[in-house]
Amino acid sequence: MQSSLRKVFRTFVCPTRGFKSSPASCHDSLFVHRDSKEDNLDVNFEFTPENRKRADAIISIYPEGHQRAAVIPLLDLAQRQYGWLPISAMHHVADLLNMPKMRVYEVATFYTMFIRKPIGKFHVQVCTTTPCWLRGSDEIVDCIRKKIGADVGGTSKDGLFTLSEVECLGACVNAPMVQINDDYYEDLTVQDTEEILDDLKNGKKPRAGPRSGRYAAEPAGGLTSLTGEPTGPGFKVRPDL
Ligand code: FES
Repeated sequence: MQSSLRKVFRTFVCPTRGFKSSPASCHDSLFVHRDSKEDNLDVNFEFTPENRKRADAIISIYPEGHQRAAVIPLLDLAQRQYGWLPISAMHHVADLLNMPKMRVYEVATFYTMFIRKPIGKFHVQVCTTTPCWLRGSDEIVDCIRKKIGADVGGTSKDGLFTLSEVECLGACVNAPMVQINDDYYEDLTVQDTEEILDDLKNGKKPRAGPRSGRYAAEPAGGLTSLTGEPTGPGFKVRPDL
C-alpha cells in the first residue's frame, strides 16, 4: 500500500481511536410491521356504518385538496373501533383519503398514541420523565407491575391491563401521574394506584384527576401569589392617559 493510501486508511477507515456506542434504548413497542396471526392483510377492517358517518364528517372539515390532513383523526377512530391499529385499518384509511399507504404508515408508526399490536382493555401509561420520576414514578411502575403481573410492554393474563412507560404527558405539576385510556390520574401514591387498578378490575370507574384533594394544578400548600384583591383597570397608568 502506498504511503499516502496508508495514511488515508489509518485516518478514515481504521483510525487508532475506536468507536464507542452506548446500548440502544428501545421503546417497548415495535414500530415496523411484521405479519402475525392477528395482524396481516387478510384481517378485515372497515368502519362500522356509524363510524363511517363520523369519518365522513371529519373529512368534510378539511378544505378541498387537503383531506389527507384527516389521517390522524381517522386512524384514531379506527383504533377506537378495533382496540388497536392493524395494517388493514391503515389501508382502509389510506383508501378513504386517497393517499399512498406509505404516508399512512409514516404517521401511524411515528406517534406512540397508535398501538400496533393487541393490548388489554385498559392501557396504563406511566410517565417516568424527570418531574414524575423525582416524585416517585419508579414506585408507581413497580406497584403496577406487581399488581397486574406483567412487565412494561406486557399485558396481564386476564387481558385487562397493558403497561407502557411513556415520556412527559404534560401534567408535570400533578406528578406522579398515569394515563389510563382517555383519563389522567394525578398526584398519585402507591395506595392510590392500587385502588385505581382494583376499581377498574371490579368494573368501577375511578374518579379521574388529582388524588391529593387538589381541584386541579393549584399550589398544594395554598396560594403564594395573587393573594390580594385585583387592582382593576388603570392600575399604575399615568393619570393624563
Ligand atoms: S413529567 Fe410526568 S407529566 Fe410531565
